[in-house]
Amino acid sequence: VIREGRIEFDRVTFRFGAAEVPVLHHISFTAEPGKTVAILGSTGAGKSSLVSLVPRLYDATEGQVRIDGVDVRDIDLDHLRSRIGLVLQESVLFTGTIRDNIRYGRPDASDEEIEQAARAAQAHEFIANMPEGYDTMLGQRGVNLSGGQKQRIAIARALLVRPVILILDDSTSAVDLGTESRIRAALAELMRGCTTLLIAQRITSVMDADHILVLEEGKIAAAGSHAELMRHSDIYRDIYRS
Ligand code: CTP
Repeated sequence: VIREGRIEFDRVTFRFGAAEVPVLHHISFTAEPGKTVAILGSTGAGKSSLVSLVPRLYDATEGQVRIDGVDVRDIDLDHLRSRIGLVLQESVLFTGTIRDNIRYGRPDASDEEIEQAARAAQAHEFIANMPEGYDTMLGQRGVNLSGGQKQRIAIARALLVRPVILILDDSTSAVDLGTESRIRAALAELMRGCTTLLIAQRITSVMDADHILVLEEGKIAAAGSHAELMRHSDIYRDIYRS
């Protein structure tokens, strides 16, 4: 069903369980196929809640989330999730080899494909430098990767799946500058051709987005391109200057 990856939020309100105060209020926007919508907002503004409605980690309380015109609740859940790549702050790596972690969404992937994805994700070098390379165990009894390394494994995993929709959290946990620019290059490669929802902590990463939503207490406080917001939004200019 999912072909182009147009995402529409249509007056979406969301509450956690029976909570009185909604976390998201009447959110409407469209992410056109292949475009990037960045979501900017302070901690607790509702950014993670918003993106979690796309792969149906939660469902909207009111309103509709649609992909290619279809309510996400009417899309087969396995199909929905197989077309969405998730690269979040706390990337979910499991106990197992690096190879198994990279091919998680594509168990049939060949060793060549896995290495190709790892190279594009700027992860091949550090993996190759480990004593057991791609067979190195991660998790409880295995090696511990740094935040930036975990993120690149998650990027390699997403590259292998070639999802239609990408949900990204661009916050890189304390990494050096060289690593940060490598992660940026890997993310750019991953975003090519995908409709991307980008949770952005930094203004520098939203400037290139096709559309920016400024979220405040679950509401869209401002929306537009960087140039438009610089012209018309006091809120955005304040964030820009801070
Ligand atoms: N919240 C909640 N139950 C959860 C998750 C979040 O009640 N299981 C609440 C939080 O306390 C917060 C609001 O939902 O008041 C929005 O949270 P979130 O969507 O995580 O906000 P973000 O903007 O993503 O915050 P951060 O940048 O810190 O991740």
